[in-house]
Amino acid sequence: MLVVGSGGREHVLAWRLAQDAASHNLHAAPGNPGIASVGTCHPLVSATDLPGLTSLAEQLDGDLTVVGPEAPLAAGIVDAFRARSLRIFGPAQDAARLESSKIFAKTLLRRHGISTAAFEVFTDPVEALTYVRRQRRPLVVKADGLAAGKGVVVASDAREAEQAVLDMMVRNVYGTSGDRVLIEERLEGPEVSVLAFVSGRRVFPLLPAQDYKRALDGNRGPNTGGMGAIAPARVSLADLAQIVDEILEPVASAMVDDGHPYTGVLYAGLMITADGPQVIEFNCRFGDPEAQVILPLLEGNLAEAMIATLEGRAPELRWSDDAAACVVAASGGYPGAYKTGIPIRGIERVPAPALVFHAGTATRDGQLVTAGGRVLNVVGTGPTLEDARAQAYGGLSTISFEGMQFRTDIGAAVPGIVRERASVS
Ligand code: AMP
Ligand code: GLY
Repeated sequence: MLVVGSGGREHVLAWRLAQDAASHNLHAAPGNPGIASVGTCHPLVSATDLPGLTSLAEQLDGDLTVVGPEAPLAAGIVDAFRARSLRIFGPAQDAARLESSKIFAKTLLRRHGISTAAFEVFTDPVEALTYVRRQRRPLVVKADGLAAGKGVVVASDAREAEQAVLDMMVRNVYGTSGDRVLIEERLEGPEVSVLAFVSGRRVFPLLPAQDYKRALDGNRGPNTGGMGAIAPARVSLADLAQIVDEILEPVASAMVDDGHPYTGVLYAGLMITADGPQVIEFNCRFGDPEAQVILPLLEGNLAEAMIATLEGRAPELRWSDDAAACVVAASGGYPGAYKTGIPIRGIERVPAPALVFHAGTATRDGQLVTAGGRVLNVVGTGPTLEDARAQAYGGLSTISFEGMQFRTDIGAAVPGIVRERASVS
């Protein structure tokens, strides 16, 4: 098995795949110091080095490659592997446009009448500014292409929306990703992440999860890649059924009908509005940190479930009745500028069964140091969310590094998506 990537999502994938891999060896490219404890890392092969990854997979002659991040998928890693008959879990480049082009995704949703925020597409900054000035309702401005989790501005007023248009289309702060922008109506409601294994028209949902995107407690502060997550999210069965029947399945079928069938894991970011679930975005990969709470609750064989999906068979997805909570320990300053190379202490004292996944770490002279914005993910599991949360925070309390910041309300008393309303400011 080969896992592509180097963050917490890839660590939990590697850890979970290694459990099933009695007869396999687990490899990762480039991997990280945490992954090195469950498999062999190939630090010189980066996650976007397609020729390097293809030749590594050929050399390993393994059963399956699993791709963590979006960049290699958008760059066509699946097409490159398929051309050499190497088995890989993920969508082809044209199907990965569901994430790599927000306009592609929104246009598909509109064409098929699938619930999503109303939107307009602009290639001309003057027209975009004119549109913003005419709107009386709250807006969200998005760069079309990949922007590493940034490139979305939830504007509190017209001035902020105008500034976002100027940043993206004139100042090009996201490079060519901002050549085309989407301007959307701003929706209100709690968010939920529903991921599913998709094989052509068939959709097999995983446990719903909730991501905590804002940097600070109470859903305040700037958006981040995710400061924590819980699973299962408190989404009603009726909403979940609607998400599968009226969103995920029609999207999977539309992709087949349009000539680019989707294979792999599809992540729908949704908002549960007064009018029901609406699509915020799609990702063509596992969520980070959603994977860190979903995968520890999966029973059975993950590798086999992925291979079944690839072969068009129904994967066996069985779930523990437990809940899981993940708390992210981030570098001081994140999501803005932060220092790296800071020594990390206390991981070895985290009491089992809490889990620690490495998100941004490195080893320097034998010492574990910080190497990213999100540094570590501490995951607790237990019969209730309260148990899971207590275990995660108990584990976190033994860890320290200078400047370490984390949210204290992951999975807290008003958890889940039912009562915790995303405070979009
Ligand atoms: P995205 O990268 O598209 O997931 O957007 C990042 C975050 O911005 C989402 O998780 C939401 O919190 C927020 N967001 C995006 N689109 C909208 C929208 N139309 N209405 C309200 N909030 C949104
Ligand atoms: N946690 C959000 C994402 O993975 O895109």
